[in-house]
Amino acid sequence: MAFTKVAIAGATGNLGPHIVRELVNQGFEVTVLSASGNTSSLPSEVKTIKVDFSSRDSVVSALRGQEAFVSAIPKHEEQPALIDAAIAAGVQRFIPSEFGSNIVGNEKVAALPVFGGKVKTQEYLRAKQDQISYTLITNGLFVDWFFGLGLGANLKGKTQIFDNGDSRHSFTLLSDIGKAVAGVLKHPEETKNRGVYVQTIALSQNQALKIAQKAKPDFKPETENVDLGELEKNAYAELSKEGGNVGGAMFDFIKVSIFRDGYGNLWDEKNDNELLGIKGLSESELEAWIAKNV
Ligand SMILES: NC(=O)c1ccc[n+]([C@@H]2O[C@H](COP(=O)([O-])OP(=O)(O)OC[C@H]3O[C@@H](n4cnc5c(N)ncnc54)[C@H](OP(=O)(O)O)[C@@H]3O)[C@@H](O)[C@H]2O)c1
Repeated sequence: MAFTKVAIAGATGNLGPHIVRELVNQGFEVTVLSASGNTSSLPSEVKTIKVDFSSRDSVVSALRGQEAFVSAIPKHEEQPALIDAAIAAGVQRFIPSEFGSNIVGNEKVAALPVFGGKVKTQEYLRAKQDQISYTLITNGLFVDWFFGLGLGANLKGKTQIFDNGDSRHSFTLLSDIGKAVAGVLKHPEETKNRGVYVQTIALSQNQALKIAQKAKPDFKPETENVDLGELEKNAYAELSKEGGNVGGAMFDFIKVSIFRDGYGNLWDEKNDNELLGIKGLSESELEAWIAKNV
């Protein structure tokens, strides 16, 4: 039976508000656990509980009566404590803060140092699955960041073209990730203890630049080529160097996971869109989205 009482942590960041909005739109009873308590921009239907995440009692008491708990927090190493609190409160389903690259289905992605905290969370959930069920949501890079932040196609500066820019990969709108979470909660049995894959569209960077030019006729792409093999090698070198740029290296590992061939980043043939109620966008719909939003 579908879950209806849902708690969410990390609701006030980049992704969380999109999940909250979709859950509210679809009629879920949403409780936000917030460290800051700063939830005034979220829909008024939401109940907010200010929580001290370092206190197990504080989290357990906020979670009592909830059926599912969605985590969208950026500190992945803090998730095992949230899982323990959810078990103690009797929560049935945990959706961890994944929402990105294919860690669950690709060993090379799982081995990238940037995903250490997410990998440990997945291992912890597998170890506890007789006490709480889980679902891991993989969606690739946010479409909103592909164009809006220029990570895949930069409409306001130079685009880094990774390898030849012709390989297609899967990408998802923030609003569709909200739909994916709602879909999981409506289909608890079909999504129990496994990874689900969603996408709004699969496309290459070269295709994306062409679509962006149609959407914005004044846009003239500027590009520079980046070899992802080199980028990955240099990121490891940076990590092993005393005083190396750890943040830069971690960002480069993320780029590798999103764009490098062989890193399991295309799931347009087989995914969970239909089950979870995600229609996706055609190229012409993406063009209209870019014209309106970028
Ligand atoms: N696929 C992609 O393109 C992509 C891009 C970005 C992020 N992501 C993934 O999406 C997930 C969410 O990332 P985000 O960028 O939305 O996060 P974020 O904006 O950095 O943070 C989300 C919220 O988490 C809460 N928070 C911060 N530190 C916390 C802590 N230590 N313990 C508990 N709560 C804490 C804060 O809310 P309160 O003050 O209300 O508690 C914050 O507003 C992550 O798993 C990230 O890897 C994916």
